[in-house]
Amino acid sequence: MNLQSGPPRALEARYYTDPEIFRTEQRDLLATTWQFAGHASQVEKPGDYFVFEIAGQSLFCVRGRDNEVRAFYNVCQHRAHELVQGSGNARLLVCPYHAWTYELSGALRAGPNTAAVPGFDRNEICLTAVPVEDFLGFLFVNLDPEAQPMDSWFPGVRAELSAYVPQIERLKPLEWVEIQERCNWKVSVENYSECYHCQLNHPTFSGGVVKPETYDIRPQGHCLRHTTQCQNLERMTYAIDLEANEHAGDYSSWFLWPLFSFQVYPGNVLNTYHWRPGAVDAVTVWRGWYTVDGVDSDDIRRLAVQDRATTVEEDIHLVESVQRGLGSRGYNPGPLVIDPRGGVKSEHSLATLQGWMRAAIDGA
Ligand code: FES
Ligand SMILES: [Fe+2]
Repeated sequence: MNLQSGPPRALEARYYTDPEIFRTEQRDLLATTWQFAGHASQVEKPGDYFVFEIAGQSLFCVRGRDNEVRAFYNVCQHRAHELVQGSGNARLLVCPYHAWTYELSGALRAGPNTAAVPGFDRNEICLTAVPVEDFLGFLFVNLDPEAQPMDSWFPGVRAELSAYVPQIERLKPLEWVEIQERCNWKVSVENYSECYHCQLNHPTFSGGVVKPETYDIRPQGHCLRHTTQCQNLERMTYAIDLEANEHAGDYSSWFLWPLFSFQVYPGNVLNTYHWRPGAVDAVTVWRGWYTVDGVDSDDIRRLAVQDRATTVEEDIHLVESVQRGLGSRGYNPGPLVIDPRGGVKSEHSLATLQGWMRAAIDGA
């Protein structure tokens, strides 16, 4: 089959099933793109830190005495013991192996008996930092030291999100829902990135939140921006003050290639997706829900439960069936349904997404 001619086709099954490709992605894709690390509220005070993992690498974020949030590889520069575990607050970072001590800025402060070493210069030793950005309270890192800033990867998103969620910088996580899907992360991300399947598979979402006939998804740099008009807002399952601000009645979503998405429900309700690939055929989707100062809210908790029971549950069955199908010897990748006008019954967004996937894996 000549893949160069005719309409773009779905990616070949091996992209979703081959462990070698999964390893390539860890090395070439996850280590060169902006990855969600955690929320700024996890490092509120100087000395607060938390450990996280990206592409098999242990890292941590820490707030310095100068109030800067920094991210470092979690490894001592003496003989490679991991420096910190979990989360906490520390005045200095002390390695558990031989007690080398680092400032919160990453500079080596002291090590037992190092003064006895001729020529030992502690100023030459520093933890290895990685670029980190505070994106409206969400911390992202990039393991590529030369990474372009997030605003060039995702043009306009910061301003749009601030308009859709005016309170965004005062939000704190209220609830996290963890969803295990037995599929490749790309199957799940593709499913998120088209609404061609929505009317058939998401009655609550299609009937209660959005107007599917107005749904569209457009690339914006390496962001896929979802927009739609909303259903009659009196049919929403929670109260909305439409007068509160310009976007109080709107739905939108910003998928940040490759593993994160901000989603806003009417009422300026922010929720997030973070795909965490575990193996070639397993991904964990973390759904985050937020309120101002993390104050408890029955509405938000109910929404999280409703979302888990409907859209999320419906999608799990779809993506796991696709993963099984990708293992079938009878599958030949079909043409994407691309309507030049875009719209909900079109998979033009998948063509964009798959272009990014091919470029990351094949260097195309
Ligand atoms: S490995 Fe950290 S002090 Fe020796
Ligand atoms: Fe879906």
